[in-house]
Amino acid sequence: MTTETLPEIGTVEPNQHGYRNFSLGKFAFARDEYFAYVKWPKGNHLMPVDAFLRALQRDIAWGFFYGIVNFDAVIGTLNHYGTVDLFAGRYNAHYRKAGLDYVENFKTPLIQRVFEAMLDDWTNATFDPFASPEETGPAFGPKNGHNKEAITRHRVTAKRMVGAPGDEPLRTDDNGFPVNRGFGDVPQDEPDVKPEPGFEDELVAFNLFAYLSRSDVTWNPSVVSVCKNSLYCPTTEEYILPIIHGNDRVEWFVQLSDEIHWEVEDRETGAARARVTMKPGDVAAMPADIRHRGFAPKRSMLLVWENASPEIPDLISQGKLPTNAVQF
Ligand code: PHB
Ligand code: FE
Repeated sequence: MTTETLPEIGTVEPNQHGYRNFSLGKFAFARDEYFAYVKWPKGNHLMPVDAFLRALQRDIAWGFFYGIVNFDAVIGTLNHYGTVDLFAGRYNAHYRKAGLDYVENFKTPLIQRVFEAMLDDWTNATFDPFASPEETGPAFGPKNGHNKEAITRHRVTAKRMVGAPGDEPLRTDDNGFPVNRGFGDVPQDEPDVKPEPGFEDELVAFNLFAYLSRSDVTWNPSVVSVCKNSLYCPTTEEYILPIIHGNDRVEWFVQLSDEIHWEVEDRETGAARARVTMKPGDVAAMPADIRHRGFAPKRSMLLVWENASPEIPDLISQGKLPTNAVQF
């Protein structure tokens, strides 16, 4: 059989499991019933396909995020904000030492197009990559339909603040956001706002706990308020953060409810640096030279506070800004 490859969108003929193969530069991607396979000139790798699709979904939805999105200890992306590095073994001391690491740079729209096509083809009707494991069917098995609705969800990115006139709406039963099973005890009352006449569009308030209690996704920070480069990006978490995030700036975490365990490693090598257990009210400033992965035993609320200034990554890499928020 000849396999026809259309540039940028993978093979037309599916493999024996019903899935298309994809390639990007010298990287090749394939899936079968249980695993995603990645090949590059000097090596190859596999991941459980549910974990792969959860990571791929976030990398796409977040526009390749801040800095590094490690899918696991071997493969991932580094955002140069306009172009993206796709790498294998680059941030793994052992792959580096063995000379098996590989990096290729792509214009953002190209890698985005291939990743979107792969996510669409490899996500079955039963699987929602944003949902907690308890709230989705399986990712596994032969090809079985699509879940376009789940993988193209609207991403909440407020211009000023959720609930402000013309901005992102509040969540209600009626607009499809019932209270999550983990948050039945969260009060749903809204603040009583009494602006002076003429200031109705300027004075806005909402119940953030109620808003988060109605989130239908996990490990997906939403921009709920914006003040210049200061972004409040709260999220609800359950099970495991599907990526290992390598920061290119300091990132603040405020634990709003329940508990998250963080595994913190050196960003370059993966060497263990710390384990942090965050309980309600705890605040952490994650340094700019680490990578981290969170573990949430039950659905919990986390406020991620980002400084989105485009100047920060260069200032840090040139040593003009410290990697830590506080020098003790
Ligand atoms: C992070 O990498 O900082 C991060 C990503 C997604 C979350 C929470 C934290 O839901
Ligand atoms: Fe992070």
